[in-house]
Amino acid sequence: MENTLKILTELMKEVGAYQVDKFKSRAFTYETKSTEIDIVTEVDQQSEKMLIEGLKKHFPDYGFLAEESGEQTSQTEYRWVIDPLDGTTNFSTGIPIFAISVGLEKHDEVVLGAVYVPILKDMYTALKGHGAHKNGKALSVNDSKNLRTSVIATGFPYDRAENPVNNVKEISIMAPKVKGIRRIGVAAYDLCLVAEGVFSGYWEYGLKPWDYAAGLLLALEAGAKYQPLTKRENSMIVCNEHILEEMKSHLL
Ligand code: IPD
Ligand code: CA
Ligand code: CA
Repeated sequence: MENTLKILTELMKEVGAYQVDKFKSRAFTYETKSTEIDIVTEVDQQSEKMLIEGLKKHFPDYGFLAEESGEQTSQTEYRWVIDPLDGTTNFSTGIPIFAISVGLEKHDEVVLGAVYVPILKDMYTALKGHGAHKNGKALSVNDSKNLRTSVIATGFPYDRAENPVNNVKEISIMAPKVKGIRRIGVAAYDLCLVAEGVFSGYWEYGLKPWDYAAGLLLALEAGAKYQPLTKRENSMIVCNEHILEEMKSHLL
């Protein structure tokens, strides 16, 4: 698996360099997806193509679940789960925080994950059972004992105008209780920052598997707790052990 991670991270760095060039030039086209606020740029699409083609050279039989091109089934037990550009609203608006997120599932369980933040050149990696790392240095969650001393991250789904489980009520409950609340706009990076002990916790409703495949493994390998939120599919709290009960009491 170490060698797989090396091949993957080299490829992600190449794709990241392409994204930074395009971000700085501001020269890219885009179109809308599920609603007019949910967009895809040519950079999302081209990044995904580069990742899939690059991975196929080394792992020709593995399957894929990728945000922009969907599923490619496989005869093997392995499947890559790819968000080629997490933070498209940031990227397209001119906010320089976005990420590439790639997880590898074996028999439906994520066993390897990497998140790359190209502007910062930060590479977050995790192998199941072997911890989480940032640029090779081991990570662990922080020790904040309650919400009052915690900076917490969250996000909002694209269908927030149509779906009542949109986090609006929950953020108004949480905001007065915490030291700080952040909406960075990059779910994979939110989870990396929990792993790094920057955020004490994170919650979000209505994610997609590619948003959290790699980042959740990173956070868990760094000692985070995970609590699914049953109000909506693909919804979760991920936080240090001390604040889990408090977060659950407000969000479950
Ligand atoms: C989005 C970002 C955002 C989160 C949304 C995601 P995208 O992904 O991760 O932080 O709040 O739920 O859909 O569309 O930029 O890849
Ligand atoms: Ca995403
Ligand atoms: Ca994306």
